[in-house]
Amino acid sequence: MMATENIKQPEIRVLPMPSDTNASGDIFGGWLMSQVDIAGSIAAHRYVGNRVVTVAVDKFQFLKPILVGDLVSIYAEISHVGNTSLRISLNVMAERERGTEKAQKVAEAILTYVSVGEDRKPKIINKK
Ligand SMILES: CC(C)(COP(=O)(O)OP(=O)(O)OC[C@H]1O[C@@H](n2cnc3c(N)ncnc32)[C@H](O)[C@@H]1OP(=O)(O)O)[C@@H](O)C(=O)NCCC(=O)NCCS
Repeated sequence: MMATENIKQPEIRVLPMPSDTNASGDIFGGWLMSQVDIAGSIAAHRYVGNRVVTVAVDKFQFLKPILVGDLVSIYAEISHVGNTSLRISLNVMAERERGTEKAQKVAEAILTYVSVGEDRKPKIINKK
């Protein structure tokens, strides 16, 4: 077994650009919410094996600012699986001055997704 297999991998890594900033020059909160939703939906889709939709943002907390050039990594963990819905906890880490500093937790969120069929209606999740 390779040593890296036990290391938790982020669902996505992304580099914010100057176009993602707010009027003060820091990264716009809505940009981060969008990235977190993408990361959560990837984890949810992988678990259920079919289409998912976001039904609720149960929590979203911005802990520290994100700066242009930070390497942003979003980690996802399934915290609850219901009949057709699943709740995902997400942690957002930022590496400032890439490679020179330890990653800091800059935000955390909990989002709920619903498994849906072709008809866009809730579809039962086969629990693993
Ligand atoms: C998600 C959607 C398919 C659910 O349809 P619905 O008829 O309300 O479904 P139900 O009431 O049967 O609920 C389905 C599941 O979602 C959960 N749910 C519904 N609303 C919720 C909420 N506000 N928070 C948390 N869970 C919620 C229910 O508890 C249920 O979970 P369970 O089956 O695991 O017990 C429908 O609301 C929808 O299409 N919403 C729009 C989704 C979307 O477009 N998202 C992107 C926005 S840009």
